[in-house]
Amino acid sequence: MKLWNPLSPDNIKDPYPMYESLRTRAPIFRAHTGEWVVTGYSDVKAILKDNRFKAGNKKDWIERGVTYFKSKDQDFTAIAKAINSFVLLINPPEHGQIRRFIMEAWKDHEVEQLISENVQELILPIKSLDSFDAVETFTSRLPALTISKILGVPVDEYVRLRNAGRQLIKVINPYISYKELVLMNKAAKEFIDFFRELITQKTKIPEDDLVSNIVRLNKKSNETLSENQLISICIFLFIAGEETTISFLSTTILNIGLNSKLKTQLTKRLDSFSDKVIDELLRYDGPVHLLGRIAHNDFEYGGYNIRKNDVITLCLASANRDQKQFDRPNEIDIDRYANKHLAFGQGTHFCLGDWIARKQAKIGLTAFLNTFPNYSVSNRIEWNDNLSIRSPKELRVQI
Ligand code: HEM
Repeated sequence: MKLWNPLSPDNIKDPYPMYESLRTRAPIFRAHTGEWVVTGYSDVKAILKDNRFKAGNKKDWIERGVTYFKSKDQDFTAIAKAINSFVLLINPPEHGQIRRFIMEAWKDHEVEQLISENVQELILPIKSLDSFDAVETFTSRLPALTISKILGVPVDEYVRLRNAGRQLIKVINPYISYKELVLMNKAAKEFIDFFRELITQKTKIPEDDLVSNIVRLNKKSNETLSENQLISICIFLFIAGEETTISFLSTTILNIGLNSKLKTQLTKRLDSFSDKVIDELLRYDGPVHLLGRIAHNDFEYGGYNIRKNDVITLCLASANRDQKQFDRPNEIDIDRYANKHLAFGQGTHFCLGDWIARKQAKIGLTAFLNTFPNYSVSNRIEWNDNLSIRSPKELRVQI
């Protein structure tokens, strides 16, 4: 049996035994693919904070792919253009410039009212049903609806862009097929056309939304960023929190539905989804399982010789179950103390949307549990075939 097999359906269904066996037998493991797979909490955390490990060469890799396929009459230029300023794929010093720009433009964190309205809007049509797919009706709609209203994207466009976003985010996966590249390029084109038009519109008539703030801030800073960069920033803001939030809401509804003791504990509490509870749910089964890094140089780490351009796969979800860091790591303890989980990453690329993810989870899950206190789910779930951000394809809920 292979110690590391992230593509196996059984491991996607339940990767935790694979992680545990790696952590105990080889916490820094050289896989047959040549990549280093890191599963222990202290190493994952240390590597995320160590700038000898870079955010990767995805941009170069895609650009090389674009040139290669051009010679075969296949055009993937749109992907390269769309991801050009994805803050997640950029290394310092340019990374800091884009990250600060986003933080400066997105200072307004008053989004509770907007999220509550969205949650009510989505729950209303399913309220009286006996059964529904929570992914299609609720969890995959909430994040796209929320970010659309924040950015100033017309609401009737949010489902189309959500679908395109679910394709394009695959650019961060370590393993991408040719078929996926074709779909990603189509999605990239849709996004570029859409945001070019929206930016033009918001430049002419600015409003009270994030795309208008982005345009205003760039004007104030003497247009330091090009139109292409602004488009790419907007695309990333739209998609960055989609798949992750979908995964967190769906997996949590599933885990609570399968654990009647937990459901009773949560229902009895006045503040069922306090920050502490959300943190424990993120630690126990958070969305981001794998992050990629690339070694910047040749160096030694933990007694291993790392070579320039070696690929390092960091297993966040494994670090969050490390018994050296957490007592009873495989149990959900909603009173867990000092829970320094890594679900939002660490260091340079620490999640920029953790606050909004927490708010959507708190408001969305509270409303879900209050509306459907007796819901049940089946544990026969089909998972999307991607361990990087692990998520159920469909989640049938019985009321
Ligand atoms: C439960 C939901 C979420 C989880 C678990 C999550 C997790 C993460 C993680 C692990 C990273 C670091 C990636 C790395 O180091 O390579 C990250 C980065 C990022 N996240 Fe989130 N995220 C969530 C929701 C969101 C939301 C709602 C947004 C809003 C737009 C967002 C925006 C970002 C951005 C912009 C970055 C890149 C930051 C940078 O590179 O400096 N995330 N997220």
